[in-house]
Amino acid sequence: MQFIPDVFITGRSFQEEEVKGKTVVVIDILRAASTMVTALHNGARGIIAVEDMGAAGQIARNLDSRSYLLCGEKDAKPVDGYHLGNSPAEYSREVVEDKTLIFISTNGAPALVKSTGAKELIIGSFLNADAVVERLKKSENPVIFVCAGWKSRLSFEDTLCAGYFLYRLLDGVLPDQSPDGACIAFALYEAFGKNITESVLNSNHAKRLRDLGYGDDVALCTQLNTCPVIPVFQDGIFVDASDSV
Ligand code: MLT
Repeated sequence: MQFIPDVFITGRSFQEEEVKGKTVVVIDILRAASTMVTALHNGARGIIAVEDMGAAGQIARNLDSRSYLLCGEKDAKPVDGYHLGNSPAEYSREVVEDKTLIFISTNGAPALVKSTGAKELIIGSFLNADAVVERLKKSENPVIFVCAGWKSRLSFEDTLCAGYFLYRLLDGVLPDQSPDGACIAFALYEAFGKNITESVLNSNHAKRLRDLGYGDDVALCTQLNTCPVIPVFQDGIFVDASDSV
């Protein structure tokens, strides 16, 4: 039987072995995936996702200081001493072009690191959704969408985006016997997909970001197909593979 795509509802709701042999798309709409996609779209050379500051520092020590930027957040707040935080607006071409980004984040980067055993690993967001779907349509591997979520909890916006991916990939028809994660994401998209930005504005993390002063990021992270890059994990770094589709 053909493999039906599945959705893992948080970055902590699966084991590393479950991604082996699969094409995995990691989704973290607010905001790590959207920021990384924006950075590659604006010419960053590549992104190294790491789980903590210790690992980031170790990588940085082995690079020419002009070649990289330390990026990301802890609990959605900028990290002291880092070049950039986790707002897509910071990642303009002037700032990131030709740079290697060493990136930590609370949920998105750990979900990426946990998925590196996948046969193919891609960063997905609303910003690059249809470009990724085209790539998935050509893939022969079983497909899994990993929603980063927030500290073991489900995130509305990640599940909604997984639903968008499924809807496009399956041409709007969810197969019988789809796994529960796929059914939930697909149904969420059917219920809320008409007004993506508006519905994400009501999510828990959008409220958290507003309280921290990053409310404008929600609109930036919920645009469809404004950055048609395909960030693929190759030799330890995420690079744009849109030219090779
Ligand atoms: C994460 O990785 O959890 C997010 O990107 C948090 C944030 O909004 O900065």
